[in-house]
Amino acid sequence: MAPKLLLTFVIYRLISTVGLTLDPTDLLRLEVDGHLSVDPSDVKTASVDFGMMNRAEPLAVLHPSSAEDVARLVGAAYGSAHGLSVSARGHGHSINGQAQTSSGVVIEMSASKGVRQWGLPRVSEQSRYVDAWGGELWIDVLKTTLEHGLAPKSWTDYLYLSVGGTLSNAGISGQAFNHGPQISNVYELDVVTGKGELLTCSEEQNSELFHAVLGGLGQFGIITRARIGLEPAPQRVRWIRVLYSNFSTFTKDQEYLISLHGQPPNQKFDYVEGFVIVDEGLINNWRSSFFSPRNPVKISSFGTNGGVLYCLEITKNYHESTADTIDQDVEALLKRLDFIPSSVFTTDLPYVDFLDRVHKAELKLRSKGLWDVPHPWLNLFVPRSRIADFDEGVFKGILGNKTSGPILIYPMNKNKWDDRTSVVTPEEDVFYLVALLRSALDSGDEAQSLEYLSNQNRQILRFCDDAGIKVKQYLPHYTTQEDWVDHFGDDKWTLFSKRKMDFDPRRILATGQRIFKPMAASSW
Ligand SMILES: Cc1cc2nc3c(=O)[nH]c(=O)nc-3n(C[C@H](O)[C@H](O)[C@H](O)COP(=O)(O)OP(=O)(O)OC[C@H]3O[C@@H](n4cnc5c(N)ncnc54)[C@H](O)[C@@H]3O)c2cc1C
Ligand SMILES: *[C@@H]1O[C@H](CO)[C@@H](O)[C@H](O)[C@H]1NC(C)=O
Ligand SMILES: *[C@@H]1O[C@H](CO)[C@@H](O)[C@H](O)[C@H]1NC(C)=O
Repeated sequence: MAPKLLLTFVIYRLISTVGLTLDPTDLLRLEVDGHLSVDPSDVKTASVDFGMMNRAEPLAVLHPSSAEDVARLVGAAYGSAHGLSVSARGHGHSINGQAQTSSGVVIEMSASKGVRQWGLPRVSEQSRYVDAWGGELWIDVLKTTLEHGLAPKSWTDYLYLSVGGTLSNAGISGQAFNHGPQISNVYELDVVTGKGELLTCSEEQNSELFHAVLGGLGQFGIITRARIGLEPAPQRVRWIRVLYSNFSTFTKDQEYLISLHGQPPNQKFDYVEGFVIVDEGLINNWRSSFFSPRNPVKISSFGTNGGVLYCLEITKNYHESTADTIDQDVEALLKRLDFIPSSVFTTDLPYVDFLDRVHKAELKLRSKGLWDVPHPWLNLFVPRSRIADFDEGVFKGILGNKTSGPILIYPMNKNKWDDRTSVVTPEEDVFYLVALLRSALDSGDEAQSLEYLSNQNRQILRFCDDAGIKVKQYLPHYTTQEDWVDHFGDDKWTLFSKRKMDFDPRRILATGQRIFKPMAASSW
């Protein structure tokens, strides 16, 4: 369809489906180099996400071929008389429809040919950074930087996520205790604000926009380019898991390990995570095939009598040239820990394979049809002072003995997070991520059903509320503004709303987050 005809069609659909009275000339002026599509398969893709619990069909989908295309569309929506919304979609790995909209256009941010012609990702070896398109996947950023012997420092566990998508949240993994979240490793951004302006921002330039967008849940602008700090890429990884049956010993060791962040590289681990094992049977989960299937590890062999086990997961990066000292360094660190002595599991692999570890599990689950299922995930930041109460109430209480997915738990240092960004964390120097990464199945087993798991999530949140455990949701999801105000706290909410007024006054961006009611739309 010719662009103008197509736009007329979009406007027709807008008027007929949402009942809006648009001034069509607004959008008719829109000319993009990319591709504006109402193709049913594009619309369908944009209407779903990894969570598989929400579905909203956009009126059209834009495949931009430049930041200017993004600016043109947002500018047109901003100028149109009535509430046309615009949602950037990175890789659609949200849980609750955060990248969806039913009253506007979804911009598919994935890197197209058009975007590639701008030469992104582009590495500066001298200044050690990479400029990446906002819709670039982290796996592709990594592949490019490795060609220069460099790599980003702070990661997510899974690399098939977009740069703009994780920077809109925080981007965390086992490196965060040391390097901070991904949003602490950004030097500069290009952002299209809700007014359709394309601005470059950093600590020095448009700094309010810069801080607003980082962890900003897509509310203030669409990231079209991010400049990300790099380090020399390690070649190999020593990957170690050790077990605990005593929760306080487990957290004592985790907290000790993250307190070493200021030490020289050989005197600390590079990655500190952990997980909870409540299921009976074999220690395994979809996150990795770490424990060899030929050498299964029986929980009961650690004498827990059906209790809960905790697994500390740590890594040490190294270069082949320093391989002779790695054993010593690791040994010295392990000596200071109090895990169950017979429970050390070690593996050694190339750096890329470690970073890309979850993708392997994805392929396995996909082959069994277990990937495209509903994911009622719950991610919480829990203050250090209450993590033992959380253990008692949730891991040893509410969860029972079936979790339907991995449960991650690891601490981070708050001083590695920048308070000026939009992200919200607990008011303590150390806080934990607890991630309940569950998959719902239609297996006839009630404990695996979406309803059961969703109820359990509510129960966990209620427990924290009742016990006065001041958790903050990561990848937050609320449906009332009151809950959002609670989430941010009064001061940050004031700042967050002011930033909204400044950068997206018509409230057209990322309405799927359900933070601000769109001005004219009938629904979210
Ligand atoms: C299997 C899996 C593993 C994960 N592991 C981790 C992990 O280890 N650590 C972690 O921190 N997170 C993790 N996540 C969560 C992930 O970071 C978020 O879901 C993130 O939003 C997904 O990125 P996406 O590109 O798919 O974003 P989308 O779902 O497409 O978008 C998320 C939000 O950001 C907005 N947005 C998207 N692109 C842009 C942009 N360019 N500019 C502005 N706003 C934008 C959208 O409108 C939406 O509101 C994981 C998710 C999955 C499914
Ligand atoms: C766990 O270890 C602590 C000391 O580190 C001890 O006080 C406590 O009793 C232990 N708990 C159990 C259940 O053994
Ligand atoms: C798991 O929990 C269920 C329900 O509470 C119970 O019936 C079952 O016996 C438990 N299994 C084990 C191995 O503890």
